[in-house]
Amino acid sequence: MLSRREREENKFLEVALTGKEELEAMVSYANNLDLSNASFLDMGCGVGNVVLRMALEGYKSYGIDYDKDAIAESERARENLGISKELARFAVGNYYPNELHQTEEGRRLLKKTTEQFRVKRDKEKEQKPEWNSPYDALGIRYRDIDLFYSYPYDNEEMILHIFSEFAKPGAVLFLRPVFSEEYKLPSNVERVDRNIDGSVLDVLVKKD
Ligand SMILES: C[S@@+](CC[C@H](N)C(=O)[O-])C[C@H]1O[C@@H](n2cnc3c(N)ncnc32)[C@H](O)[C@@H]1O
Repeated sequence: MLSRREREENKFLEVALTGKEELEAMVSYANNLDLSNASFLDMGCGVGNVVLRMALEGYKSYGIDYDKDAIAESERARENLGISKELARFAVGNYYPNELHQTEEGRRLLKKTTEQFRVKRDKEKEQKPEWNSPYDALGIRYRDIDLFYSYPYDNEEMILHIFSEFAKPGAVLFLRPVFSEEYKLPSNVERVDRNIDGSVLDVLVKKD
């Protein structure tokens, strides 16, 4: 039998999809940045809705999720929309970069996240950091990505740590806060906008 937390989190997983309002707010914000050949990664892409929307705008888009059923769903949706494999690519795995467990802070957060937020039914789907990297499968490195999105299932602290530690300077993170709007910003990350177009999305930039 599932515990209360597991029931709540399973329910959260089933219903938690970025809404149209947020998607369109992000698309128009990203387009206004006027980047050329920009790449996009949704960390925890679920059924791929955000990745596919960005691919339709011409961004080279990637999605990682440790739920293989969700990734299969993403691939089906990509085909139905007639989007090429070159433009939208998906991989099963953990979006935590391999290097995460190499620093003390990374290890602390991994332990905390595992203890606090990991959903038991996802355990067998989850990959340990040292396992096969979805980044390798996609042929990308975290620090090459221009635009990120996260509707976190673990917590803002982990996402912000990964972004501050591994993204390149100037990279942009669209964050949909879940657990707290008052998340603590790392010193090298600046919040440049909040609630864009009346949505719940924040825009963060990795500083030099
Ligand atoms: C709230 S849903 C968001 C789905 C999609 N990004 C959207 O906004 O519609 C979070 C997703 O992140 C995935 N996820 C959570 N932690 C993950 C991790 N460490 N590595 C890979 N996927 C993860 C979950 O399986 C789930 O599909």
